Amino acid sequence: MSFEIKEHYEGVPVVDVDPFSPETLRSPEAFWADLRDVGPVAYIPRYGNYILSRYEEVRQAQADWRALTTAAGAGMSDIRKADHWRPASVIVEVDPPRHTEVRKVLNKVIAPPIVRGWRERFEEDAQQMADQLVAKGRFDGVRDVAEAYVLKVFPESIGLDINREQAVAVGDLNFNGIGPKNELLLQAQEKVAPFLEWWHSSIKGETIKPGGFGELLFNGEATGEVPKGMAGALTSTFLRGGLDTTISSIGSALWLLASHPDQWQLLKERPELLRNTFDETLRMESPISTNFRTTASGPCQISGFTLQGDKKVQLLLGAANRDPRRWDKPDTFDITRDASAHVSFGNGIHACAGQLIARLEFDCIIKALLQRVAKLELDGPVRHRPNNALRTLETLPLRITLHA
Ligand code: HEM
Repeated sequence: MSFEIKEHYEGVPVVDVDPFSPETLRSPEAFWADLRDVGPVAYIPRYGNYILSRYEEVRQAQADWRALTTAAGAGMSDIRKADHWRPASVIVEVDPPRHTEVRKVLNKVIAPPIVRGWRERFEEDAQQMADQLVAKGRFDGVRDVAEAYVLKVFPESIGLDINREQAVAVGDLNFNGIGPKNELLLQAQEKVAPFLEWWHSSIKGETIKPGGFGELLFNGEATGEVPKGMAGALTSTFLRGGLDTTISSIGSALWLLASHPDQWQLLKERPELLRNTFDETLRMESPISTNFRTTASGPCQISGFTLQGDKKVQLLLGAANRDPRRWDKPDTFDITRDASAHVSFGNGIHACAGQLIARLEFDCIIKALLQRVAKLELDGPVRHRPNNALRTLETLPLRITLHA
């Protein structure tokens, strides 16, 4: 299938499809390929926004905060409008100079030496978990590995307790909120309702546990180093941005490695390829598969097309990571590839602040399994969890064989 262009919106090809339909969300690859072939930019009339699917344009749009702001929200709806249901993120949804100030605070509490200091604890937890998994022989790669591991190590680093049910409800709402007000978003809003009180009461100076970077933020607020109100807002941003994304990356890697036994074997022979494996997983399965920018008040240019001012622009990160204009054999999972130029962490001023943490978690848990498991195989049907913007697995049955 390919799109037949019958009309244009101010010179931009119109594609009358729903990027958030259940079928497209389930298997987006064919839609991405067709949309990339339409051109550098298209217009989606049902939502009244532009859409970018090619690598060069997505990368440019992520970085160009002057022409394409996040201050109107990282999702489809305009958070500046009065009827919007949530406040702006204090870091993702602000432009400089405010963004620069907040990012400075944030970079301090998760500076590389701080994150490197977590390695021992993260490794110990991974080794323990891998011993338990190996004893079982069969397990679920999402529930028993990705979710269990991330929920053990990451909230502890912040100084919070969060269980699986709470994490899934908050994550579903957060990422469904990037898309339109469809069935997925309405269901997520309903599912999160019982946890809202817990959410608001647990992210406070009095309830945060000592030893994590949540404490650093609240102490900083008390001494005036961190602006008032910022500690709670940043702590909740970390939780919203740092759980589902890393769970997705670990789950997707186990899925890709189990379904490509030659790559598992290669990684066992050459464990130094773990770094590439992380990037290649993020390229193949971008945890945040889409988000939005908004054009500034005046028109802007993208690859020779004029985009009207004050319009939402959807960025398809997943499609950009599979663009054959940028990647050789883009649909092949190849851990010898240097995929570090993927767009899954964004780039420019809003580039992911938690990359080191994500890589540390991934390294520790995949390495612990790699050391023990000779063969990793799928042990039943694999299912993704439907979401407007988060590409993540729900079920990943795995079977392992140990070394003789
Ligand atoms: C594999 C895991 C992760 C992925 C794929 C990911 C992806 C992203 C992306 C795409 C952005 C840019 C958003 C934009 O340009 O609009 C971003 C920003 C951000 N991420 Fe991550 N993230 C991951 C892990 C984490 C973790 C563990 C944390 C926890 C600290 C985190 C915290 C943040 C923050 C605070 C920002 C906002 C940065 C800013 O606006 O200056 N992320 N992330």
